[in-house]
Amino acid sequence: MALRAALVAMLPAVVAAEKYAVIAAGSAGFMNYRHQADACHAYQIMLQSGVPADNIILMMQDDVANSSENPFPGQLFNKPGENPPDVYKGCKVDYSGDIVTGQLFMDVLTGNTEGAKGKVLKSGASDTVFVNFVDHGGPGIIAFPNGPVLTVKQLSKTLKTMQSKKMFKQMVFYMEACESGSMFPDLEKDGKILAVSASNADESSWGTYCGDAAMVKGKNVGSCLGDLFSVNWMQDDDAGKFKSETFRSQISKVTKLTNKSHVCSFGDKSFEDETIGSVETASSLSASPSDTAQGAVDARDVYLTQAMWAWQHATDKESKQKAWTRVTGIMKDREADEALFAGLAAAACADVNPERLVQCQHKFLHERMEMTHMDCHHELALAVHEHCPASEYHHSAGGWNGFNMKFARVLLNICEGQEALGKSTEQLVHLVQEHCTKASRDRAAEMQILV
Ligand SMILES: *[C@@H]1O[C@H](CO)[C@@H](O)[C@H](O)[C@H]1NC(C)=O
Ligand SMILES: *[C@@H]1O[C@H](CO)[C@@H](O)[C@H](O)[C@H]1NC(C)=O
Repeated sequence: MALRAALVAMLPAVVAAEKYAVIAAGSAGFMNYRHQADACHAYQIMLQSGVPADNIILMMQDDVANSSENPFPGQLFNKPGENPPDVYKGCKVDYSGDIVTGQLFMDVLTGNTEGAKGKVLKSGASDTVFVNFVDHGGPGIIAFPNGPVLTVKQLSKTLKTMQSKKMFKQMVFYMEACESGSMFPDLEKDGKILAVSASNADESSWGTYCGDAAMVKGKNVGSCLGDLFSVNWMQDDDAGKFKSETFRSQISKVTKLTNKSHVCSFGDKSFEDETIGSVETASSLSASPSDTAQGAVDARDVYLTQAMWAWQHATDKESKQKAWTRVTGIMKDREADEALFAGLAAAACADVNPERLVQCQHKFLHERMEMTHMDCHHELALAVHEHCPASEYHHSAGGWNGFNMKFARVLLNICEGQEALGKSTEQLVHLVQEHCTKASRDRAAEMQILV
């Protein structure tokens, strides 16, 4: 008996490897229907392919399915057709409403129960983890419906914490967002994390099934149904080849299909040749792949193109008028954002030699510098969230919205130029704060006049 007990004690603890998934949609509002449809579809794929429901954590605003604008109340569709599956059915949302923030995402991923008051990732060193984020982004930032943004600095730290806590054997992170190729600058080649982004660091990702293509059961949904990269990997998964398809082959297929932007992969490619089933397991959710690029629209322009679509298709005079007010409102929002960030670049250059002022401003607005000043970029991104005016027609939780996030490029460039400007991060934060506070005051005054 004693011998047997001693032998048992010597055996390594055999821990069965488990599969986990964390899914997040970062937006709110009916105009962003597609992100919640993508997220619920990803949930269905994880569930039906055998990831235990207890091991899936889904966070999203959850304001779209029951929106008064939804022509199919309580249902969401991620593809057009006569009988597409309702991806909202059985889609269990663990965190919804105003608690869905970047902080929550970090807390869930790192298993921090002090922060997240619900399910958190409990995976260990022998487990596989799949993470999927869908939403708006910009250089070095991704959005959450209740703000603030999650910066590349925060994401990098989160992934490092997960590594040091040994929370996975392998982790695959699929990210759909504009400029999402900017979010994984420092993944190691042997860190067991493989990240795949919908776009490179300098371009938009694309919504799809927009406009006329958003037809479900003979009715137009009035918002894009999906995002191009997301529906491409998910319809590929739906095709049910998990057992045999490798990440390498899925990524190469999805890269070909997602031909409006450049799908990129980062980090540890050593397990690219393993089958997708090793992380996501086999699926029975079979579906015929449809032409995923029907009605594809640059994600930056989705608000405007959908508003134009609504105006074109309004049938009575009153709704036509209302739709037109929206179109012009969105255009004004965009102009104001362009002016805001051009002004910020000018303000950053205010102390340079007047002869070089135009050149300096142009550089901050348009150059594609590589990010090395992550801390500075992080501080400025938070200052924009806190102090810049909220958009009237684009959903925004603070200064950022789905259109202006591309101008995070300006912050990145200013930070890279901070030595040449002779300004500390603190001084730059102060500059953003002043510039944005003034813009907020001006905008409020303008609204007063209009009212
Ligand atoms: C949506 O509406 C249904 C039916 O009224 C209700 O049961 C459900 O709780 C609602 N969901 C949300 C997220 O509001
Ligand atoms: C992009 O892919 C779609 C299919 O998703 C195809 O119909 C289209 O021709 C492709 N465009 C280019 C330029 O390759």
